[in-house]
Amino acid sequence: MEIPVVTIDGPSGSGKGTIAQLLADDLGWHLLDSGALYRVLAYAAQQQGISIEAESAELVSLAEALPVSFSTIDGATHAMLDGQSVEAHIRTETAGNAASKVAAMLAVREALLKRQHDFVESPGLVADGRDMGTTVFPHAPAKIFLTASVEERAQRRHKQLKQKGIDANFRALSEEIAERDARDASRAASPLRPADDALLLDSSGITIEQVLQKARDFLAEREVI
Ligand code: DC
Repeated sequence: MEIPVVTIDGPSGSGKGTIAQLLADDLGWHLLDSGALYRVLAYAAQQQGISIEAESAELVSLAEALPVSFSTIDGATHAMLDGQSVEAHIRTETAGNAASKVAAMLAVREALLKRQHDFVESPGLVADGRDMGTTVFPHAPAKIFLTASVEERAQRRHKQLKQKGIDANFRALSEEIAERDARDASRAASPLRPADDALLLDSSGITIEQVLQKARDFLAEREVI
């Protein structure tokens, strides 16, 4: 039997990271946080002095051989580069923006494609990103596209960062989110858009539990669970 994949795509701050993690925990499935791959790549490039402003052979080679992995440390998932946690470096809005720049490059996306397919493992995978349902797992039996207003997403991000002890300016955050949305949605390579067969779920004004319940109902309807 084919290993089921549930895709959760959407713009930054739509809650997809939280929902994907909760759903994966709930089902006992694996999780692919594909955004973390782009974040780690941008961070590694900057560390090595490789420009992220334009596609280059160095950047693509780095993407192909990126020593990235995921580990659970004190119950939390950490993205690791060369065996060291880089969570603190890759979760800022600036790092998100840098990720969005490398993610706009087709050769970089292709270099990371196989790596993403390798996350499919029994009993199932919840894949979180921008193009999970359209490009990476186009045959997934259940696809969800999560949205929320820019204002609500900026508020959530602000709260999230504050909880992590990262101080962020709300207005600057809203502008960065809008800028990142525009780049992610307008790029030629796998732009941010819902797959034709995705469930569109607007999480504005509803609780995480309510979003999760809607997602579960949809999976049951698609006979995935
Ligand atoms: O989900 P995130 O905020 O961690 O993603 C960071 C950036 O990476 C996002 O702005 C766009 C890019 N990205 C992408 O292009 N495709 C994905 N599947 C995941 C993320």
